[in-house]
Amino acid sequence: MHQHHFITGVAGFIGSQLADRLLDGGHRVSGADDFSLGTEANLAGARRSEAFHFSKADLSDPEAARAALHEAVEASGHIDVVWHLAANSDISAGVADLSVDYRKTLGTTYGTLEAARACGVKRIAFASTSAVYGERGDLLTEESGPLLPISNYGATKLASEALLSAAAESFLETIWIFRFPNVIGPRSTHGAIHDFVKRLAGHPESLRVLGDGTQQKPYLHVGELLDAMQFIVAQAGERRNVFNIGPQGDGTLVSFLAEQTIARVAPGTPIAYTGGDRGWVGDVPRFTYSTDKLRRLGWTPKLASDAAAIRAIDEIAREQGL
Ligand SMILES: NC(=O)c1ccc[n+]([C@@H]2O[C@H](COP(=O)([O-])OP(=O)(O)OC[C@H]3O[C@@H](n4cnc5c(N)ncnc54)[C@H](O)[C@@H]3O)[C@@H](O)[C@H]2O)c1
Repeated sequence: MHQHHFITGVAGFIGSQLADRLLDGGHRVSGADDFSLGTEANLAGARRSEAFHFSKADLSDPEAARAALHEAVEASGHIDVVWHLAANSDISAGVADLSVDYRKTLGTTYGTLEAARACGVKRIAFASTSAVYGERGDLLTEESGPLLPISNYGATKLASEALLSAAAESFLETIWIFRFPNVIGPRSTHGAIHDFVKRLAGHPESLRVLGDGTQQKPYLHVGELLDAMQFIVAQAGERRNVFNIGPQGDGTLVSFLAEQTIARVAPGTPIAYTGGDRGWVGDVPRFTYSTDKLRRLGWTPKLASDAAAIRAIDEIAREQGL
């Protein structure tokens, strides 16, 4: 059955690919973005479809969020699912300025919830993050706690999860909370691979890499992320559904990302590590992530983290004409 989906942050890396995927599946898609991080270029494919409707809006303003959802309902009828992806995706920017995550990450959740209530939306899927766990030594499962984030980004994502949980008691019927690891692939607006490719394209004398290269994190390809999110929304039917989504096996070392990007884009470029065990304040340098709950639901990733990284390096390099 074809449905009407609304995506916040639709002009971003993941939001625009979700829009394309849902449109390909024959669904109607509406979305909003303020273009603070996303781009019009990311919407090029969606704009060609008559089943796509876009509103430019700052979703941290509840009035603007309500107007955007209302416009979508007027254009394409009742909204089946809101996918809430709008946020600040630059963790270090949020450490430097407290207001960034408060407005873009928590504020857009508040605005989206107010709009959802006003427009009779019953189901919201939310892009949360491994950053809600903070820096813990143990295997991260959906039951881990207490959750003590070490970045404003992680803190406002956790606060967003809490607001959604409360809304599931009053006016929402179902919420899905996805805790993503690092997501990579074409159209990315940030992240280590994205930065390395861009910097190497400028032919620097050396590639500057934050930290000592031993940071190790799971990297998931965006194609697999979309598969997993759609699978969870179709299969997980509790009132509140919380899932880690991740790649196969262990994570990838930052040194591996740097070496592989150099090999693809500018062979022979030396690496200059800035030193220290982490890239920036609020960075969680190493974590291991359990995706057993998602496997039990019936979804398994195809790619290991290193393989996903190699694929994304090539895709991002091609995007840059390299
Ligand atoms: N990419 C990752 O590695 C990753 C990891 C964990 C979680 N996430 C989450 O997934 C979601 C999508 O991330 P992404 O990588 O596509 O980032 P992105 O920055 O490309 O997309 C976020 C979008 O939200 C928009 N936005 C920000 N503030 C807004 C506002 N006030 N009003 C309207 N639009 C606004 C931006 O313009 C951007 O298009 C985000 O919520 C992010 O926190 C991403």
